[in-house]
Amino acid sequence: MPLSRRVRSISPSSTLAITAMAKRMQAEGIDVISFAGGEPEFDTPEHVKAAGIRAVRDGFTKYTAPAGIEELRDAVVAKLKRDNGLEYTQDEVVTCSGSKQALYNLAMVFFDKRDEVIIPAPYWVSYPEQVRLADATPVFAPTREEEGFRLKRGDLERVLTRRTKAVILNSPCNPTGAVIELDELKAIAELAVEKDFYLVSDEAYEALTYDGVKHVSIASLGEEVKARTFVVGSTSKTYAMTGWRLGYAAGPKEIIKAMIDLQSHSTSAPASPSQKAAVAALLGPRETVESMRREFEKRRRYLLERLHGIPGVRCVPPEGAFYAFPNVSAFYGKKVARGRKISSSTDLTAYLIQEARVTVVPGADFGSDKHVRISYCLGMEQIRDGLERMAKALEQLK
Ligand SMILES: Cc1ncc(COP(=O)(O)O)c(C=O)c1O
Repeated sequence: MPLSRRVRSISPSSTLAITAMAKRMQAEGIDVISFAGGEPEFDTPEHVKAAGIRAVRDGFTKYTAPAGIEELRDAVVAKLKRDNGLEYTQDEVVTCSGSKQALYNLAMVFFDKRDEVIIPAPYWVSYPEQVRLADATPVFAPTREEEGFRLKRGDLERVLTRRTKAVILNSPCNPTGAVIELDELKAIAELAVEKDFYLVSDEAYEALTYDGVKHVSIASLGEEVKARTFVVGSTSKTYAMTGWRLGYAAGPKEIIKAMIDLQSHSTSAPASPSQKAAVAALLGPRETVESMRREFEKRRRYLLERLHGIPGVRCVPPEGAFYAFPNVSAFYGKKVARGRKISSSTDLTAYLIQEARVTVVPGADFGSDKHVRISYCLGMEQIRDGLERMAKALEQLK
């Protein structure tokens, strides 16, 4: 049966596919350690769960306004002021079923045929697909490993054209963990104003930064840049709420209104109990956020130490999110069984599953075939065992 032209060129999310494969293997009783996941394994905080349960008990289980309840939009406004120093009004905010949907809706209402959208690389897997689904053209702006994959103004200037409609920023970045430096953030903000393009700032990992690095929202750098920025946020990573599906976008109200209108014809509002839970998350106590961040910081330190100890593996220290993105290209050209050679991040991923029963995600899916993505969303013991297995399998490669 013929598919629509629109979806013919998209591929399914590889991270979700690999995570599903690991879960399937685990269900079959195979001892797999998955470094592929993109979600904190911590439980949703109790007060957040209680708010969701209360909503269900109180019968708060019906449709709401497509943009989300006023209480939640106000909570997002309050959060953006408290954490990011940003002033928005309720009509400049829409809540969505996850920030992925917020990004998708934004792409649908804002990008068009002939528009170019710059995506710094390595990038999160869904950006190019969403841009293509909107009939626009993704243009990649490579960053450099030697510079910790931190985006610089010059990286954008190199690929900027008269057709550039927007740049998608993701700091902290999935998959590299890179956080854009404040001076560069300022320079990028100036460039956006000067060259008249828009910014989509995906801040899903804003709460997870390490070694004293602080997240700054580019929209907070002045009124001119704020007027051309869409800030996209999520409850998923900050509050371990991935399955509740609650994200949001804030920005110029004509575009936010179009996103709400689009949403009213597609998914409608996010699930009502999730909205109540998100209010509790955004306005409630912050201790769980900090204790989760501290735990990730500990794991990150351990992971980096162990990775540096594996001959052939190089890894720039990620400054945020919960991923490491080691360079594994030293293993390319090495032989595996039956004379076959490893020649890509996909080959190496397959080898690690077979040989070590460890899953990672090939860097090729994020725009860099020399790397693999390792998530540290699993307990210390599993991290230790998984790395041991990985090190052993890699050391066998000759
Ligand atoms: C960079 C980035 N943005 C957005 C999302 C989407 O998160 P959610 O839809 O759960 O808010 C993810 C999820 O992995 C991500 O890594």
